[in-house]
Amino acid sequence: MCGIVGYIGTKTATEVLIDGLERLEYRGYDSAGIATVLEGTVHCTRAKGKLYNLREKLEREVNPSQMGIGHTRWATHGKPEEHNAHPHRDSSKRVAVVQNGIIENHQELREELIEKGCEFLSETDTEVIPHLIAQYLPETVDYDGLLEAVQKAVHRLNGSFAIAVICADYPDEIIVARHQAPLIIGFGQGEFFCASDVTAVVPHTHAVLSLENGEIARLTALGVEVYDFDLKRLRKLPRTLDWNIATVEKQGFRHFMLKEIYEQPSVVRSCLETYLDPSWNIENGEEKSPIALGLAAELCDNVDYIQIVACGTSWNASVVGKYLLEQLAGIPTMVQYASEFRYSPAPMLANTLTVGVTQSGETADTLAALEMEKQRRMGLEFPYDARILGITNRPESTLAHMVDRIINTQAGIEIGVAATKSFTAQLMGFYFLALELAYRRKRLSLEKFESLIKGLRELPNQIELILSQQEKQIEELAHEFIETQDFIFLGRGVNFPIALEGALKLKEISYIHAEGYPAGEMKHGPIALLDAKVPVVAIAMPGEVHDKVLSNAQEAKARDARLIGVTSVDDNEARSTFDDLLFVPHVDEILSPIIAVIPLQLLAYHIAARRGLDVDQPRNLAKSVTVE
Ligand code: F6R
Repeated sequence: MCGIVGYIGTKTATEVLIDGLERLEYRGYDSAGIATVLEGTVHCTRAKGKLYNLREKLEREVNPSQMGIGHTRWATHGKPEEHNAHPHRDSSKRVAVVQNGIIENHQELREELIEKGCEFLSETDTEVIPHLIAQYLPETVDYDGLLEAVQKAVHRLNGSFAIAVICADYPDEIIVARHQAPLIIGFGQGEFFCASDVTAVVPHTHAVLSLENGEIARLTALGVEVYDFDLKRLRKLPRTLDWNIATVEKQGFRHFMLKEIYEQPSVVRSCLETYLDPSWNIENGEEKSPIALGLAAELCDNVDYIQIVACGTSWNASVVGKYLLEQLAGIPTMVQYASEFRYSPAPMLANTLTVGVTQSGETADTLAALEMEKQRRMGLEFPYDARILGITNRPESTLAHMVDRIINTQAGIEIGVAATKSFTAQLMGFYFLALELAYRRKRLSLEKFESLIKGLRELPNQIELILSQQEKQIEELAHEFIETQDFIFLGRGVNFPIALEGALKLKEISYIHAEGYPAGEMKHGPIALLDAKVPVVAIAMPGEVHDKVLSNAQEAKARDARLIGVTSVDDNEARSTFDDLLFVPHVDEILSPIIAVIPLQLLAYHIAARRGLDVDQPRNLAKSVTVE
């Protein structure tokens, strides 16, 4: 949700900045801009729409400046027009600022600044910041002048923000500050970077430092100084990212989304290698857990109740998680939208494990819900103490810093805005958590563990099989739906959330209206929507609810709906029920969500790609939703 980037060093800044923005464009793509200091002046170039508009403008300019800041925007305050694009400047045009977050008291600051004679040119909340900083700058330039002015300004801001600031009078420094929005600093050789996400700096350096809330830093070509908001100097060391540039390149795929769909077998494999104890077997099974999550006893012994908070796709994964935690570990589990939990939390119960699930690790609602839970249990003793676990693929994220422990789902960064590999990785996280808790509570026989683990180990090959054998056919089928306006997805039990996820994937990238329902609920209302123009996708995997789903599908067929079934390859009954079949390998019902979601991801992808849409950057969305 908005990406900011900054560079100071020996290269031409505009090139580094535009490259960094390209890698952050998944955070927002309504407009973009950069500002540099050159010959005592701030140069600012901005453009509405995607980054290529800005790139085109920059190609017409000659700007050898070796420092600057950039921004790619997801509009919050003010329409996505050029005058609202960042960077924003003060009235004298000597201070320029990029911001990610929301300044909640911008209206009162704006009024105060207008009274002092400041001229506002945008409707954004951000524009108050350069004006404020300009007010606090000393009359004559002194060494700490800009740093102190930014420090004074941030004390006036309410809300969440990450900012980068440059000033024409301080051409050798960039000042950055963070409060509840992500900001990292990259350390190169004689060059330094700041960015909302490490993706922007990995081509240049793997040495990064994550700023914490309430920290300010000065970047010069010689180094980085970090301070708290009272300007007390802090000693901090960068860490090394174990990252591969390939993660942030398309590598021959047409879209990141397709590449990430194809990365799922290796993500699942990596989860299995990390979290299954290879030495476990049925003979030594009483002595040690087959799961190697390394969770402390204080976190997950004596758990009577689990509450999960998440948003979007992570919420869908959590509903599968609920099913696994209840059915395998026998622990009552509630899944709440983080945005709802914040303002109507469930009553506090004893022995509660709270789980936050987020692929970005930065979703504002999820972080706030977890913080709220932490605060309301602060100082309480066992059994009301706060026990908070995170599930994320971003171990360096804000989530990871705020919870007691994370399960790193091994998916690495995901660039496509529609979550795919991060979803299957979250499901893997839930399998391991549910099995670990089931083991601790002695809920399953060793034979059951053995068979579930065998099933889990087969998943990577089974996903590969779907990708290699089904994609072509799914692509052809997808082409028949490019004019379709509504889709219904049905599932039951552990696959009901997969119906939700199939519908979410389709609507967010193809803009086709799609809804997921528990198959048994159809007849209680949604069935009224059905006719020959509304295709129904039903997930009918072998298991307890298989026959029920087939009967629900028949009810849809009786209303002329075209029926598409996600079914096991050996399911003859399904062959005679559905008009179109998306085959998957036969797996244990409880493992089937991870298999069933793959054809639905491909279906959504190919419908959207065939409609000629921007699959990786669908309209109005952002990868990391850092505002409430
Ligand atoms: C859908 C999607 C969003 C996110 C949601 C939560 O494909 O990506 O629905 O799942 O914004 O994001 P995270 O998981 O980062 O908290």
